[in-house]
Formats: sequence, structure tokens, C-alpha cells
Amino acid sequence: MPRTAAIIVAAGRGERAGGGIPKQYRMLGGVAVLRRTAEVLDRHPGVDSLVVVINPDDARLAHEALGDIEAVLVPGGATRTASVRAGLAALPGNAELVLIHDAARPFVSAALIDRVIDALARCESALPVLPVSDALWRGSEGLAETAIDRSGLFRAQTPQGFRLDALLAAYDRLPDDTAMADDAEVARAAGLSVATVAGAEENFKLTLASDFERAEQILTSGDCVT
Ligand code: CTP
Ligand code: MG
Repeated sequence: MPRTAAIIVAAGRGERAGGGIPKQYRMLGGVAVLRRTAEVLDRHPGVDSLVVVINPDDARLAHEALGDIEAVLVPGGATRTASVRAGLAALPGNAELVLIHDAARPFVSAALIDRVIDALARCESALPVLPVSDALWRGSEGLAETAIDRSGLFRAQTPQGFRLDALLAAYDRLPDDTAMADDAEVARAAGLSVATVAGAEENFKLTLASDFERAEQILTSGDCVT
């Protein structure tokens, strides 16, 4: 098995979610979001080491959330892209593959991680995707006249996986202050091959306040009522 490292990006401020503290430190069913996310990666047999990128202001929250999970904590940057760069710089020297995952996606499954790692045997990078089922419209003041054709459109998730040497070269080519949506975009800009694998609806990103209600529902739906 190739040596595989994982980076969890957790340095955002969670402004759209609100809630007093950054969303990755909020409790879900009594467990911090970041801990839930880190546990899945930490327990996965294919993942050998973990780097968590945080805002230095949150160091205490991060230590409390992670508890006994073994991870290297590094300070992030002003954009997700800058935070990923910081995480890449902290990886162990022997890593061959890297998974990059949003702290705000606590319902990532081991099966999805398997699909991403497996695809890296065929391609330099792997991107979990889901189809777009709602109609899409563009418009700022009122709607445009027609909806956007959604054939060939999909939603991208994380973890995104990469052969580490190829991704490092892709980040080296990127000007310092460039911010990209995700790491697959960085990879494509450098011409890396990308495999798409099936994403998962439950692996949604906690983004808005209402996403926390959905998450609580997922957690309680399996409970026994007596
Ligand atoms: N992230 C990061 N560093 C940043 C910005 C984002 O590590 N400078 C991380 C977030 O912590 C999150 C992931 O990237 O786990 C996806 O970003 P997003 O959902 O946008 O989270 P926030 O930026 O925290 O939220 P918001 O945009 O609402 O402020
Ligand atoms: Mg953000």
C-alpha cells in the first residue's frame, strides 16, 4: 500500500453558519464536528498520518476537539488554498498519496475514502462528485431568461485525493496569492489527470445554520425510542 497522508482543512471562520464559534468546533450529538471528521480519517486503515490546518486563534478549541487523536496541527492562511499549502508543507517526507478533506464534512464514510484511494492507482487525482438534480439559473437582478443546461454539470466534494509529487508540482506552479475553489481545480490547472468517483449525499458540507439541523436529524434517525 502506498503511504497515504490526510490533510483536514479547518482554518475557516464559518461565517455563513454563524453560531458563536467556527462551525468545525460546534457540537453535533455531543461530539465536536472536527473530532467526527478526524476520527473517520484516523481510523481508516489506508490513512497513515494526519495533518490538521487550523487558525492559531482556535488552538485551544482544536486541542479540545481532537483529544487523543494523533495529528500534526499547523496554522492556516486567509484562503482555503493558502491553508492547503500550509498543510502540504507539513506532510511527512515519506508520503506518496495525500487526501485533502474539509473539516466541515463530518459524515465522510470509509467507503468513499476507499473509492478515492483506489482511483489513485489509475489517475494522478481523484474527485468525488454528485449529479445536479435541481434546475440551475443564473441572474443577479432577476433571473436570466433560461435555466442553465445542467447536463455535464456535477457537484464536487472532498476528500479529494492526489499523488503527492504531482500535487506539489501543481501548487508550485500556482502564483502565491491565487485562491481556487478546491484542489482538483489546482490539479486541472496544471494538467493532472483526474478520476471522478461517486460522492455521497450524506457527505454534505456544513455551510449554513440549517445544515446543523439536518446533521442532528441524521444522528438521531437511528436512535431507539423506548
Ligand atoms: N478553510 C480553511 N482555511 C480558510 C478557509 C476555509 O482551512 N482560510 C476550510 C474550512 O475550515 C472548511 C473548508 O475549508 O473546513 C471549506 O470551507 P468553507 O465551507 O467555506 O468554510 P468557512 O470558510 O469556514 O465558512 P464561510 O465561508 O462560511 O466563512
Ligand atoms: Mg469559506
